[in-house]
Amino acid sequence: MDFRKASQAHVVPHFTKGAAWNADDLIVMDHAEGCYVTDSEGKRYLDGLAGLFCTNLGHGRSDLAAEASKQMERMAFYPNWGFTHEPVSKAASMIADVAPGDLEDVFFVSSGSEAVESALKFARNYHVARGDEGRYKVISREWSYHGTTIAALAVTGVPKFRKHFMPMLWDGPRHVRNTHGDTADALASAKAIEDMILAEGPETVALVIAEPVQNGRGCLVPPDGYWQELRRICDKYGVLLCADEVICSFGRLGHFFGSERFGVVPDMITFAKGVTSAYLPLGGVVVRRPLLEHIWESEVGLFNHGSTFGGHPVATAVAVANIQAMHDEQIMQHVRSHEDTMRAGFESLVERHDIVREVRGTGYFYALELMASRERGLDLSEPDALALQQGVLLSMCKEAGLLIRPDDRGATMLVFSPPLIADEAVIADMHAKADQVLTRAAAWLAGDR
Ligand SMILES: Cc1ncc(COP(=O)(O)O)c(C=O)c1O
Repeated sequence: MDFRKASQAHVVPHFTKGAAWNADDLIVMDHAEGCYVTDSEGKRYLDGLAGLFCTNLGHGRSDLAAEASKQMERMAFYPNWGFTHEPVSKAASMIADVAPGDLEDVFFVSSGSEAVESALKFARNYHVARGDEGRYKVISREWSYHGTTIAALAVTGVPKFRKHFMPMLWDGPRHVRNTHGDTADALASAKAIEDMILAEGPETVALVIAEPVQNGRGCLVPPDGYWQELRRICDKYGVLLCADEVICSFGRLGHFFGSERFGVVPDMITFAKGVTSAYLPLGGVVVRRPLLEHIWESEVGLFNHGSTFGGHPVATAVAVANIQAMHDEQIMQHVRSHEDTMRAGFESLVERHDIVREVRGTGYFYALELMASRERGLDLSEPDALALQQGVLLSMCKEAGLLIRPDDRGATMLVFSPPLIADEAVIADMHAKADQVLTRAAAWLAGDR
C-alpha cells in the first residue's frame, strides 16, 4: 500500500492546508528511536519538538510498551465512574506526590483540551457549590493556547484559531495582555488581570488561567514575581487560579510541574502530553484538596463531569511507568544540568545570525524570534514573514533534518522543545541543524530563493 496516497485519499489532517497535505513530498513517518524519527524513505530527523511537546522520555522505550501490554492483558478497560482500579490510583498518588502544595486530587481525561474543559467546569462547579452562582467568567491571555474544543477554544487567545468559530464560542472568556515585554518592576501584565477582574466585577469571575511559560508568542518566561502577584490577586477576589501545564509539566522546565519553578501553588494544574511521554493519550487536572472537599460537602455533592476514557487503565499504567522512569533516571536533574548548554547554544546562534531578534525560554523549551536585520533594526516585510511562516521555514527545517515548529503566533519564530533525554551530543546536533536553517533563511531573505 502507498501510505502517502492512502492518507491523501482518506485521512483528514489536523491544522494542515489541503495543498500541503496533497503535495508529493508529504512525509510518511515510519519508526523512531531516542530523539530521532525516520521516514519511509530512510531520512532521519531530530525530533526537536518532542513530537508536539510530548515525547518527553524519547522514542522506542520497551519498558513503557511492556507496561501497556501487561495492563491490556490484565484488564484493558473499566470506567472510572463509581469504580476504581490499581493503575488509576497509583498514577493519581504519584502525581499528587510531585504536585506543589496541597494539589492532591486528580481528574483524568484523554487530552489537553479536555483537561482545560475540566478545569473550567470544575471552577464553575466549585463556585456553585459555595453558593457563588454569579461566577462564570474566565480570564486568559492574548496569544495563549488552551486547546481546540469549543469552551477551551474560547479561552484560547490566538485569533486565527477562533475567528471562524466566533458565533459558537461562549461569552465568559476575557483576554488580557501577556507577559511579553513586561518587567519585574512594572508587572503590568499582572495588573491587567486585576484591572479586568475589577472592571467585570469580582463576583462574576470564576477563574484565571495561564501557562507558566506561554507557548503562543514564543516561549514567554514571566518576569520575577508575576506568579506571586497572580496568586495574591486571585486570593484577594476569590477567583481560582489554574496553571495550564499541558506543555510545562513532566520535566519540560526541569520540574515535574512548571509552577514549582516559579514558586507558586495554583488552585488547579492542567496537564497532558508528557504525563505518558505520549506513549498513550492521557490528560488531567490536579486540584487542591479543600476545593474538592467544598464540592463533596455541598448540596451539589459531585464534580458533574466525565468521559468514557477518563482514567483509562492502560493510559494510567503507562503514566505510572513513565513517572517512575523519570524518577529513576533523574530526568529533572538531567534537564536542569543541561539547560545552560541549551541556552548557550541558542545565544551563540543569536550572535551569529543577524536575522534573529532574540531567544526566549528556559528548561528544554525555547523560541528564536526572527527579523530581517537586527543590526539595521529592520522587521520582516509582511510578504516575507508570511512566506517564511507558511512553508518556507518548514521546508528548510525538513531539509536540515530538524523537526521543529516554525510559529506565526504574533511573530515569525522557531520553537524548540526536544525530548528531555537529549544529551550534549543531541543538543549540539540540534543547534548545528538550527544554524543550517538560519543560514539558509538569511540567504533566502537576501534573494536566493
Ligand atoms: C497549554 C496548552 N493547553 C492545552 C492544549 C491542548 O492540548 P491537546 O492538543 O492535547 O488537546 C495545549 C496543546 O498544545 C497546550 O499547549
